[in-house]
Order: sequence, then structure tokens, then C-alpha cells
Amino acid sequence: MVDPKRQAPGPRTRGPFGSLLPYRRDPAEFLLTMQRDHGEVVRMKFGPYLVHLVTDPDAVRRVLIENQGNYCRGRFYEQFKLVMGEGLLTTDGERWRAHRRAVQPAFARDAIRGIGPNVVGATHEMLSRWDDAAQRSEPVDLVTEALRVTLVTLSTSLFDYDIRPSVPMLKQVVEDSIETMFPHGYVREMLPRWLPTSRNRLVAANRRRLDQVVDDVRAAQPRRAGSLVDLTESARDPDGRPWTDQEIRDELLTIYLAGHETTATALCWTLHSIAQHRWVAEKLEAEVDQVLAGRDPTVADLDRLPYTQMVVQEALRLFPPIWLYPRDATGDDVLAGYHIPAGSSLLLSPFVSHRNPRIWENPEAFDPSRFDAAAERERPRMSYFPFGGGPRQCIGNTMALLELRMIVAMVVSRYRFELVPGSFVRYGDSLISMRPTPDMLLRLRPRARSVLTGAAS
Ligand code: HEM
Repeated sequence: MVDPKRQAPGPRTRGPFGSLLPYRRDPAEFLLTMQRDHGEVVRMKFGPYLVHLVTDPDAVRRVLIENQGNYCRGRFYEQFKLVMGEGLLTTDGERWRAHRRAVQPAFARDAIRGIGPNVVGATHEMLSRWDDAAQRSEPVDLVTEALRVTLVTLSTSLFDYDIRPSVPMLKQVVEDSIETMFPHGYVREMLPRWLPTSRNRLVAANRRRLDQVVDDVRAAQPRRAGSLVDLTESARDPDGRPWTDQEIRDELLTIYLAGHETTATALCWTLHSIAQHRWVAEKLEAEVDQVLAGRDPTVADLDRLPYTQMVVQEALRLFPPIWLYPRDATGDDVLAGYHIPAGSSLLLSPFVSHRNPRIWENPEAFDPSRFDAAAERERPRMSYFPFGGGPRQCIGNTMALLELRMIVAMVVSRYRFELVPGSFVRYGDSLISMRPTPDMLLRLRPRARSVLTGAAS
């Protein structure tokens, strides 16, 4: 009989901060060490808060699916509200359910299949800039390019809106906002929002700029039945009340922010991984050349690009853009035999789970064959969850995977690429997404094309 109050193992800490200081120094490395030293449910103190890191696949499944009603976004998600307000990502309960139901049709598989031409169009624009850079023998700044291509695709596909003029401004605002959303454990983050501190002023100014962009998007909308804006404007809450302007704004902003930065980060790490592994690049080139023979991909082609998909999946394993997300327990629970008291917090981390040596052999190695069908069947559910799981699973996962595969196929079809020699790229320090740091510079070499066959070499 398992003692339902059994405490999970964890680091011994003294003093008021508990594990907060080593966590703050390098969150990802710290949590990896916790898994290595203490196992798949680890008990820690973060200042006054009791926090468990949960990476055991069955326990993750219980939190996200089987007993998901016992978990809410919780205290660590509060910071997100400073930037995104009360949208799908930050809310819970009935309100979240009604909002998710209202916007879901815009993300249905069939609706998303229609975005293929937008992905191709935005990627062509990117590649023509890359052609110019290659001709001048200059490298391209991958982070900037990836943010642009994903933002333009998202905005055209979901909002029929030309976001290009706002791209440079949004890059800066989004960077500052990410910094704000992530709690670093500093006193200034705990001061009331009405105090005119420089941080609070920056948060407010950024939020005003983001609101302005969203208002412009709404104002410019051609009224199209079934579009995202139309769905939010005609939505009703369970009591029959239409959404307020603020609710619509928060929802649209959430989709803009949650949708493009994540996909851009995934694109950077996928291309980075291809650049670092010549044998992967060669296998990809063979697949893409055989299926596309130099033409642009369509959505229908994606099923015939299985290796491209495996490469994207493996990049999302090693570098999941949303690498860490929290929950609070509303009632007591037992995870992997350990007591989780009501009111305590959990950290779920695809980054740490995806490096669990019990599940993944040689976890640090980049190996797309982990995602062939047979290998996938062997693994426990929720040992891989870059898009979360259960009812709160990412609403944009189909869109992101479609976009990533198409862009990768187009880039590989046209270029060999490598990191500028001497670059040492790692995931960011003030992490909320796995944005690489410093910027990734890629050197491009156009692949030669046979005029007769259209095939590239
Ligand atoms: C590679 C790209 C992406 C990754 C890795 C990713 C990852 C995630 C994860 C892990 C969650 C769950 C967070 C949690 O449960 O606490 C999530 C939720 C969400 N994502 Fe994504 N996402 C990506 C792309 C997108 C796109 C393209 C969109 C929209 C266009 C989007 C919109 C959202 C929204 C609105 C939620 C909240 C869903 C809800 O709770 O109902 N994401 N995403």
C-alpha cells in the first residue's frame, strides 16, 4: 500500500529562497540536474512556494488529461496576463471552454489545409532576400527571418492582414514582452502594476502598442463569415453576452503572440540542426528532390515527405519552443506515488521530459529516426509533448507543423547552409521560449539545379 502522503525526493535547501537562486542562474540546466539527481517527480521550494517538477510520462498524462480538472494555470501564469491579458492561454474554467469552442473552427484541419499558398508566398519572399544575401556572400540572420516568415504567414492566413510594415516594431515589443512574461524572481516583478516603476511603464507602453496593432487588424478586416475575427465578434458567452472589445483584443493578441514566436523558434532550431548534421541534410535533400523535383510544395505533398516530418519532430524534441509550463493543483493528488498537496505548483517541461534517459537513448543526440512509426509505438504516451496535451493542447499545432514542413522543404530544396564558423549558439538564458541566443547567422550556398530535370544537387 503506497502512503498517499509520501513526499517526492528533492534538493535540500535552507533559507527563504529555497531553489530559486540556482534556478534563476540557468533554469533549463537546473531542472535537468533535478531530474538526473532526484528522478521524475522532484519536490522543490521556490521562495515560499512548494513546486514539483513532473517528467514521469504517466504523471504528465494524469496532469494534462486524466485528472486535468484538478489543475489550473495558477500563479506562475499570472505574469503572462501582463502581456496577453485574459485570452485562451491564460484563462481557465467555463470562460476558457466557451472561448476555445468559439475560435476552434478557424483551426480545424480543413481550414488549416487552405493556408498552404500563404506559406509558399511568405517563404518565397524570404528566399528572394536570401538569394540577394547569397549573391553578396553575406550570411542571413535566421531569427529575424524566421520571425518575419511566421508572422506574415499567420497574419495573412488567419487575419487577411498585411502585417509587414509592423514587423520590425513587433520584433522589439515581443522581445521585451517575453522578458516580462517570464518571472525571474526579482522584487520589481512583485510590485503593484499601478506603481510608475520603469518596468511597469515599459509593460504598459508595450501593451498599448500591441493593442493598437490588433485594433488595426480588426478595423481592416473584410467581414468574412468564419474568419477568426468574425468568430470572436459573433461569439456569445454561456449567458448569451457578446464578448467585450477587451476580450476580443486579448484573444486575437494571444493568437498572434502564441502563434508566431513559437513557430519561428522551432524553425530556427530545425534549420540549425540540419546545418549541424550533414547526413541529415543529404537525406532531406534526397527526399525533397524526389518528391518536389524543384517545384513548390503543396499541402498534399506533405504526406510524401515523411523524413522532413521526422526532422521537425526531432528538433521539437530537443528544442521545444514552449519548454516549460506551470500548473497549480486545486485539490490533493498523487503523482507517480508522491503526494501533491492542494495549492502547490507543478512545472511540466517538455525540454526535460524529452531528455529523460529512461525513455530516450542518448538523449542529447539529434536523431530523426526516433520518430519512425515503430519507434513511436514503443514509447509511453506523453513522453513527447511539445504542444502540450489533453483539452489544453496547443490550438495551432496542425498549423505549425504544416508551416514548418513546407518551409523546411523549400529551404532545403534551394540551399545548403551552415552556421557562420565560430558561432556558438545556445538556447536563451531568460527563457520562456527556447529562442536561440545570440542571433543565428547562416551562410548559404545555392544548390545547383539541372535545367532538364529540375532536380537539385
Ligand atoms: C511550433 C509551434 C508551437 C509550439 C511548440 C506551441 C506550443 C504550445 C504549448 C506547449 C501549449 C500548451 C501550454 C499549456 O498547456 O500550458 C500551447 C498552447 C497554445 N498555443 Fe501553441 N504552440 C505552437 C504554435 C502555435 C500556433 C501556430 C498558434 C496559433 C496560431 C498557437 C496558439 C496557442 C494557443 C491559443 C494556446 C492556448 C490553448 C488553450 O489553452 O486553449 N500555438 N502551445
